[in-house]
Amino acid sequence: MNQHFSGEEKIGSIVSVFPGASHLFKEVQIDFCCGGDRSLLEAIRQKNRDEHEILRRLNESFAEMKNKAEQGGTDWREEPIADLIDYIVNHHHAYLRKELPLLSEFITKVLRVHGGDHIELSLLHKRFHQMKIELDQHLIAEEEALFPLLKQYASRPVPEKHEQVIKSLRELETDHSAVGYYLREMRTITNGYALPPEACRTYTVAFHKLVELESDLFQHIHLENNILFPRIENQEVR
Ligand SMILES: [Fe+2]
Ligand SMILES: [Fe+2]
Repeated sequence: MNQHFSGEEKIGSIVSVFPGASHLFKEVQIDFCCGGDRSLLEAIRQKNRDEHEILRRLNESFAEMKNKAEQGGTDWREEPIADLIDYIVNHHHAYLRKELPLLSEFITKVLRVHGGDHIELSLLHKRFHQMKIELDQHLIAEEEALFPLLKQYASRPVPEKHEQVIKSLRELETDHSAVGYYLREMRTITNGYALPPEACRTYTVAFHKLVELESDLFQHIHLENNILFPRIENQEVR
């Protein structure tokens, strides 16, 4: 494991080595799932942030994590690929299947009650549901076709399947970029999920749940884009 980060590392690999970095990246709005193959310095400069400050905080929290007793987390770069796929489905897909319908109800109710005073809620409702449709279809595609194909390929990386597998990975990455776009849009529309003073309970819960959804999707897409897909791509064809 690295002793510290210089900033030249790719964002995705920093989060792979140190998942806790995701909190800092979220705070300073550096996209670590879809924009994971840029170097950290590149991303900081694009955002016009103070690179010394961000690197200092990153390295401090990294050192703190290392000082803590053995962390119980799983290193998904090392575990069998089939286990990683099962974890993504049982953990992140299950979360979406439970939360997306609930959020749909909440956001619809908030639009009905507060839409008159807050015109942005109608665009939020639209973007959320566009993302929900994309995600519903994306989960079906992953679970029914692509993950079984990836599992099969991981156990037997035959040359005949190589092209099909790589094409599937690129399609999934395109879907992920679309999700990243909707998440950014929703954050902008709501001014960072800022609640108005008169927000009722449903309004509050809906925004808290949207923030949680964003975190879960970042982690989910990170596991797929930055860990699962490169592991599949780097399998030696035989
Ligand atoms: Fe997924
Ligand atoms: Fe995915």
